[in-house]
Amino acid sequence: MCTSVQIPQVQSTSTLLPGQIQSLLQPIARDDIDALSREAQWETLLHCGRKVFFRGIIEFSNVCTCDCYYCGLRRSNRGVGRYQLAKGEILRQARWFADRGFGSVVLQSGQRRDPRFVGFLTDVVRSVKRETRSAMLPEGLGITLSVGEQSPEDYGRFFDAGAHRYLLNIETSSPRLFRRWHPENQAYDSRRRCLEYLRSIGFQVGTGVMIGAPWQTAADLAADVAFFKDMDVDMIGMVPYIPHPAAPLAAVVVDTAAVRQRRALLAIAAVRLVLQDVNIAVTTALQALAPMGREKGISFGANIIMHQAMASGCRKRHTLYNAKPRDDESNPDFQKALESRIRRLGRMVGRHEWGDPPHVFHRQALLRQSA
Ligand code: 5AD
Repeated sequence: MCTSVQIPQVQSTSTLLPGQIQSLLQPIARDDIDALSREAQWETLLHCGRKVFFRGIIEFSNVCTCDCYYCGLRRSNRGVGRYQLAKGEILRQARWFADRGFGSVVLQSGQRRDPRFVGFLTDVVRSVKRETRSAMLPEGLGITLSVGEQSPEDYGRFFDAGAHRYLLNIETSSPRLFRRWHPENQAYDSRRRCLEYLRSIGFQVGTGVMIGAPWQTAADLAADVAFFKDMDVDMIGMVPYIPHPAAPLAAVVVDTAAVRQRRALLAIAAVRLVLQDVNIAVTTALQALAPMGREKGISFGANIIMHQAMASGCRKRHTLYNAKPRDDESNPDFQKALESRIRRLGRMVGRHEWGDPPHVFHRQALLRQSA
């Protein structure tokens, strides 16, 4: 049943209370959804401007030492062929993105903490920075890493090599849910501490949660938004949960895909209202869940689109969740059509720019003022 909600008339939506956030995330009437979308777009324009940035994702390995109960890449899934791209292939993909005007790439893999992996990735980061310099991008591509929990020393190595952003999903801000979604050797506190290390090292820090996963309530999700604000993060990815048959949590019945998608969109809007000047990504899961996922994400307050452009054979083996990619993103016609749909939303695509979140500059200015 839909209830009618009012977007609270407060001076600044950044001060919404958890109860008010929660009311935005419950099933609400069509008119209210439209009003929320308009408000979120307005806040995006106000705080982040018209530009939408693409991030080229390079999924360089699906080897993972973790056994998360929801993930298709979990260690115990013997049904997936494991791969690791060679440095030359990663560089080829990075150049492909740079040549097409992308300002940043995300290097993503399963979690490994062995010295060989750390050494390999440090070298790759250095090489990508060096080899993607151009007149348009004098400092090379912006690099975001997404390789899970690592030691502070190793995070420092990646930072010194030239990566300046890091994505580490908290998955849920509820320690109770975190315990139910992960095996015992993965701890909520350790994940949270990693986010703190990343910030203290100087990374722009991104995190995100799964939406619609088993046992999660609207109150949990509202607490997640408040958590992002408390942690003062710079980038957010709201990930609709998509059950994977090789993961134990798939046995638990959840809401329909349509409900999970709608809730993810409402959550994006709530994050935009409360955090205002952060970058919010349309995650690949949101793109996979429904047609026009990117455009819907943008019209609910996102300003970043994740792009898996390389038609590489490995793509099929990077199966975090059970959904087929809907679009051939490496097809120039698809890209052109997407850009024209973005323009129709009154937005434009940022090219040859890193597209850092304005929040970072605002925080730095505040720090300078208080120094
Ligand atoms: N559904 C949606 N997202 C998932 N992830 C892993 N498994 C799933 C799933 N079944 C996401 C998690 C993780 C990221 C790498 O992929 O948020 O942090």
